[in-house]
Amino acid sequence: MPIQSAKGAYDILPNETYKWQYIESIIREICELYNYKEIRTPIFENTDLFVRGVGESTDIVSKEMYTFLDKSERSITLRPEGTAGVCRAYVEHKLYSELNYLTKVYYLGSMFRYEKMQKGRQRQFTQFGVEALGGEDPSIDAEVISLAVNLIKKLGLKEVKVAINTLGDKESRLKYREALINHFKPEIDTFCGDCQRRLELNPLRVLDCKVDHDKPSMAKAPKMVDYLNDYSKNFFEKVLKHLDYLGIEYVLDHNLVRGLDYYNHTVFEVMSKVEGFGAQTTLCGGGRYNGLVEELEGPNTPGIGFAFGLERLILSLEAENIAIPDQNFVDVYIVSMSEKTNEIAFKLQEELRQNYIKCDKDYFNRKVKAQFKSADRYNARFTVVVGEEELENQKMIIKDMIAQTQEVVEINNIVLELKKRLEVK
Ligand code: HAM
Repeated sequence: MPIQSAKGAYDILPNETYKWQYIESIIREICELYNYKEIRTPIFENTDLFVRGVGESTDIVSKEMYTFLDKSERSITLRPEGTAGVCRAYVEHKLYSELNYLTKVYYLGSMFRYEKMQKGRQRQFTQFGVEALGGEDPSIDAEVISLAVNLIKKLGLKEVKVAINTLGDKESRLKYREALINHFKPEIDTFCGDCQRRLELNPLRVLDCKVDHDKPSMAKAPKMVDYLNDYSKNFFEKVLKHLDYLGIEYVLDHNLVRGLDYYNHTVFEVMSKVEGFGAQTTLCGGGRYNGLVEELEGPNTPGIGFAFGLERLILSLEAENIAIPDQNFVDVYIVSMSEKTNEIAFKLQEELRQNYIKCDKDYFNRKVKAQFKSADRYNARFTVVVGEEELENQKMIIKDMIAQTQEVVEINNIVLELKKRLEVK
């Protein structure tokens, strides 16, 4: 049997790449508007980075990482997410060295998690993420969320909702943590193995459990809002006020805890409401992670960001029947009428390319009809027909593939005539 792609990995074929290129171009456009600069961190990192950064209690670190020893016995992990790598780079390259400077970066790239496969959940998947490091003003939280919302808007998605919550600062979280442990401890034996392990490591994650979520004690669990200190309450109120300034609609969700350990204060998700998408409908997740840079031995640095799953974005666009413009086309397809005209056609192709005219031609000596079929397949705007009779008269035919009209032009003028029609400078 021929070798197939590894389970959870997939190919994006040439007839699908336009979707990715389209979304990526919109992402880059929006990031430029918000003054976020692209950062490219390695696809593999030292395993410790994720153990310390993402947290041992998370599913990502405890079950889902692609970890292996390299030939020098170093433990290496394929990145399961982008935030930890960005923070590592921030510390390693001292991007914090300027005072009162907000480092705003974005990334686009493959992430790897050994997860159960389903629609919109792969083992190699693509994230677009942003991180803003070095500022703690609540307006930054609102700016980051507005960037996510504007991407959704620009793509034309309508069936989405923004859910938001606060996990409070360290002090509030510690109090809440204690309350949760006290609440769940008496019956933790009836919970799944993951919850039993999480209760001590990170009890907030028990609230997130997909196995035990219907247990009555879940509904009765203490709520974070009741454990927030004044600073945390105040901070969150200001974030919400800034979202209101921007007219961004959101739903308060007190059970939103997120699956990574580094969060505090604001956490949020953008969810797709499209039916038939399966259980996993979160397009984007993010939040504040003040303390993560310190955890990685950098200076005390607040941070906030989010990441979108691009596969899920594309699925949502398709589910909402939003057409993704296919910008793949050639300006000119050259039709060669016989073997005798092939040489001229070949030279003409090169000349057009030298003049920035996108073109292609037949490579198989096919019949004229088949060549016109190819012209259609490549969405050719014009065809140039090179025939023996015309060549004798130093002429060629330009056919407008939209208007379905044709004109005979002098060979010497062919480039000029095409440029005129294509408005190439
Ligand atoms: P996350 O919630 O783990 O957050 O992932 C963000 C998004 O990546 C998800 O909402 C989902 O769309 C997509 N995603 C995650 N796993 C898969 C998968 N197996 N297949 C397809 N898509 C997937 C983070 O990764 C954080 N680093 C986000 C962040 C940045 N927080 C602050 N800054």
